[in-house]
Amino acid sequence: MLGSRLAEIARQIPKDARVADIGTDHGLMPVYLVKNGISSRIIATDISPGSLSKARDLIVKESLEGIIETRIGSGLKVISPGEIDTVVIAGMGGLLISSILEDGADVLEYVHRLVLQPMGNTDIVRKWLTDNGFAIEGESLVKEGRHIYEIIVARPGYQEVSDNIHYEIGLKLIENRDPLFKEFVGIKIKKAQNIINRLKNEKTRNAQKVMEEFSIKLNKYHEVLRCFAQWRG
Ligand SMILES: C[S@@+](CC[C@H](N)C(=O)[O-])C[C@H]1O[C@@H](n2cnc3c(N)ncnc32)[C@H](O)[C@@H]1O
Repeated sequence: MLGSRLAEIARQIPKDARVADIGTDHGLMPVYLVKNGISSRIIATDISPGSLSKARDLIVKESLEGIIETRIGSGLKVISPGEIDTVVIAGMGGLLISSILEDGADVLEYVHRLVLQPMGNTDIVRKWLTDNGFAIEGESLVKEGRHIYEIIVARPGYQEVSDNIHYEIGLKLIENRDPLFKEFVGIKIKKAQNIINRLKNEKTRNAQKVMEEFSIKLNKYHEVLRCFAQWRG
């Protein structure tokens, strides 16, 4: 059984996809994809020998050694161009995900679908996709424990971003009427408000600058909430 975060990621993998799960760690995702008949060709990778041995143990326990191949190394460097058509990168920071994508151009040329779940800095990931010939096809929010995770699905293509706020808050979340949208933006509003309150009495130039930045953000957050409420498709 997968938790809700991994289950939503798995739901985004098309049947018969040839998948690379980059940074697989426990190996739960590849095992799930095979056992549920979603994929029969998976490469599970990790940069850490300890993590990959956890994945290997699970793969052996489930007798899936012939179907799931494990490879040790960084990002897409352990994949040959054309071997896979779908890339999953989940549970890493947005900066790391972007740098893995940046370093894997030769592999990405053959990829139809990216399923990404950054742990933070999602704006950097959306900007990287926009600047590097990928269009965001879908987005979803998933709550697990107290955290709301963002899952981004992209394919080769072109997209325009009309307002920088949509690097931080994906437009597809509004278009798809994501049920967690208001709670997700509400958390951002609270954080921004806390920062502004904390800096209100500080007179340094830097504090004033940060406060201004967060006041602008706060306005944008309220704007996207209004946009969500008024969205007619
Ligand atoms: C928090 S775990 C996420 C595991 C799984 N993908 C998930 O979402 O549950 C992050 C994994 O990424 C691996 N990792 C970090 N940097 C990496 C890189 N450059 N290439 C491949 N794996 C990496 C770590 O060793 C770790 O096992």
